[in-house]
Amino acid sequence: MSKPIKRIAINTGGGDAPGLNAVIQSVVVSAVNRGWECYGIRDGFNGILFPERYPEGGVLRLTRERVLGIGHLGGTMLGTTNKGNPLHFPVNMPDGSTREIDRSDEILAYFATHEIDALVSIGGDGSLTIAHALHQKGLRVVGVPKTIDNDLDKTFTTFGFDTAVSFATDCLDRLHSTAASHQRVMVVEVMGRYAGWIALHTGIAGEAHAILIPEIPFNLDKVAEHLRCREADGQQYSIVVVAEGAMPVNGHRELLAPAEAGHAERLGGLGERVAHDLAESTGKDARVVVLGHLLRGGSPTSFDRLAALRFGAAAVRALNENQSGIMVALGLHGVNYVSLDEVAGRMKAVPLDCDTVQTGRDLGICFGD
Ligand code: F6P
Repeated sequence: MSKPIKRIAINTGGGDAPGLNAVIQSVVVSAVNRGWECYGIRDGFNGILFPERYPEGGVLRLTRERVLGIGHLGGTMLGTTNKGNPLHFPVNMPDGSTREIDRSDEILAYFATHEIDALVSIGGDGSLTIAHALHQKGLRVVGVPKTIDNDLDKTFTTFGFDTAVSFATDCLDRLHSTAASHQRVMVVEVMGRYAGWIALHTGIAGEAHAILIPEIPFNLDKVAEHLRCREADGQQYSIVVVAEGAMPVNGHRELLAPAEAGHAERLGGLGERVAHDLAESTGKDARVVVLGHLLRGGSPTSFDRLAALRFGAAAVRALNENQSGIMVALGLHGVNYVSLDEVAGRMKAVPLDCDTVQTGRDLGICFGD
């Protein structure tokens, strides 16, 4: 039995997602109600690794008063980063090369020195992999699944996803009328990294005519043929949703920037290419709309806000029950706990036999295969 908790820390890592502030609020209020003190680490772990950057403190005391009224706000009050994983921290060498070092012991030392008993780590795959490593080194850790991409395994959904899909669907609704008025092909590129959840859900809810996702390598000739059939049928416009990580059969992903030390590759550019190629092959006017970071902004939907509040409170309950090395997850019957062993380093792709893909096919949506 570990010693009773008196003090916990919270951090938010990776790309921001609507609902982060609601999790922070829920963790802090639930913890304070148990008599615990809460601290928020700034910008992932940067508040500990680079204290000199934070004149007001790299680790902030979080009181109930400090977090009340933030649940509906987008972003994260703690800041975040998707650069500089402390397990593979990039360091510039005198010869101009870059080497990666493990700085996780500095984080453990901070927790020990300041008598912080546990960490609630709110993040996606990268952050939860770091949380898993810290747990294996002896830190008490509970993870909370965040990402608009919904690509984390063992949870029905991550918070942030519903907000991204709701916003993107609203955008599609608006694009139908302008596309129809100009008889155009409108290509909408959405985020999602190597998973097609955002594109799939948005495309079906928003009545797209073709959806390209990473899980189904596409043949653009088939999409062009689908658009021509629509035209022959009197449908003069089309909406094509493309996931940033989708790629053609025997082709490659479009990148905005390659991976570099401490930073993953940046996906993007597929929408432009698809619009250009479809314009050539169909002879129609085509335009591209890249929703990009708009999907990460704004207030969480009530679904995401509630999920975030439930996750935060469940994380504190888990610590109170002496659990560690777990992630709170949404199951069919409510919030449950899964081992970080089962989550870290894994990706939840869209299953090709899921009923959502089947629904798309039944509705006559082209997947480019
Ligand atoms: O993982 C969330 C996400 O928004 C991805 O969908 C996207 O590829 C990536 O982050 C963008 O990251 P950045 O903020 O570094 O451009």
